[in-house]
Amino acid sequence: MKKVILAVGSSISAYKSCDLARLFVKGGYNVFVAMTENATKLVSPLTLEALTGNPIYRDSTLWEKHEMGHIFLKDKASLFLAAPATANMIGKFGNGIADDLVSTTFLALECPALIAPAMNPNMYKSPGVQMNIERLKSWGVKFVEPETGLVACGDEGKGRLADINTIYEAAVNVIEGK
Ligand SMILES: Cc1cc2nc3c(=O)[nH]c(=O)nc-3n(C[C@H](O)[C@H](O)[C@H](O)COP(=O)(O)O)c2cc1C
Repeated sequence: MKKVILAVGSSISAYKSCDLARLFVKGGYNVFVAMTENATKLVSPLTLEALTGNPIYRDSTLWEKHEMGHIFLKDKASLFLAAPATANMIGKFGNGIADDLVSTTFLALECPALIAPAMNPNMYKSPGVQMNIERLKSWGVKFVEPETGLVACGDEGKGRLADINTIYEAAVNVIEGK
């Protein structure tokens, strides 16, 4: 069973990570969820644990269980998928910051990384976010572009998380080397 790390950030679209996790489980992948602490306020770790059948990795995994969760996670993984990825996560990934489980895992990766951003359109088009995306792309990190339309806050533009089926297909293509 191929191992997929699903990193979930605190976007309002975080609830969609539950259906995304289901797609991977149905597809025969072993899914390990890494959540930011803020993401746990928007989607229940217990839901993702029940859906994947694996323990959830979060900051407390690093500090309370005395286990190096980031090292366990990267071991033998076929893909690191950040979906939804916040502006904050993209900023950390693009600048070598490792101040939580998700960003520490990203730096330790030995497998390909795929990022599906989700944020307010103004945030998405801001020079800081775009600069980090371009830098990550230049390092070989792949992206699933967000959709254009109405976002949860009522603004319109590019920033809505891509359709989960599109994200899943892009992920499978990277994993299976298509
Ligand atoms: C209800 C709510 C929805 C949010 N949605 C987003 C979002 O879609 N994208 C984003 O980049 N930030 C969003 N934010 C802001 C992030 O949660 C904030 O930047 C946070 O510090 C990111 O933490 P994380 O990257 O560790 O999850 C949202 C905040 C709240 C309270």
